[in-house]
Amino acid sequence: MTIQPVTVDNIEALTGFFGSLSERDLTFVREDLSDTAAVSALAGDPLRWVDIDDERVDGYVAVERLPGWSSHVGELRLVVDPARRGSGLGRGLAQHALTEAFKTGIRKVVVELAVDQEGAVAMFSRLGFTGEALLRDHIRDRDGHLHDLLVLAHNVDENWSTIDGVGLSDALMS
Ligand SMILES: CC(C)(COP(=O)(O)OP(=O)(O)OC[C@H]1O[C@@H](n2cnc3c(N)ncnc32)[C@H](O)[C@@H]1OP(=O)(O)O)[C@@H](O)C(=O)NCCC(=O)NCCS
Repeated sequence: MTIQPVTVDNIEALTGFFGSLSERDLTFVREDLSDTAAVSALAGDPLRWVDIDDERVDGYVAVERLPGWSSHVGELRLVVDPARRGSGLGRGLAQHALTEAFKTGIRKVVVELAVDQEGAVAMFSRLGFTGEALLRDHIRDRDGHLHDLLVLAHNVDENWSTIDGVGLSDALMS
């Protein structure tokens, strides 16, 4: 795994990665990705990273700090190349993003998932996230069907023992 911040040097590879994803996977990124100029706007943000394998991006993670009175909260967005799933990349990217977000003073990280994403829910749960809200009929898919939205949260103060358990504490102290 080679996790790097998103910079102008990897924008072309990142544009290619986003271009290879399905419409459903792109919804998890939740950014304007309409063209290279829009993707270029992501460069330089200290809370966005890619994993590079042989000059190709195979995973992307970002923590978006919420505005105003929720500025201590970050929202995590994560997507891994479908061909690379199941090899630990998603977990590694999520762990890296959590560690770095907490270092910047963010105290709580949330992630939004559809309730049927059992694999992703299991992954985030093992990283110390717990269920915080269930929003009924909050997602409408391309066919117009409604799905429930699950909000998972990781609070750095409450979850210190879990952080220790998943090996984040050493990184946070450094
Ligand atoms: C969710 C996602 C990032 C996981 O990435 P990944 O690289 O496949 O995940 P990993 O290989 O690191 O797996 C992490 C853990 O989750 C488990 N897991 C992953 N996918 C799973 C699935 N479909 N079913 C059951 N368990 C699963 C793995 O067994 C692993 O368990 P471990 O921690 O005990 O080893 C990836 O499936 C993806 O990009 N999905 C679409 C976007 C998305 O849902 N993003 C999350 C919300 S923003």
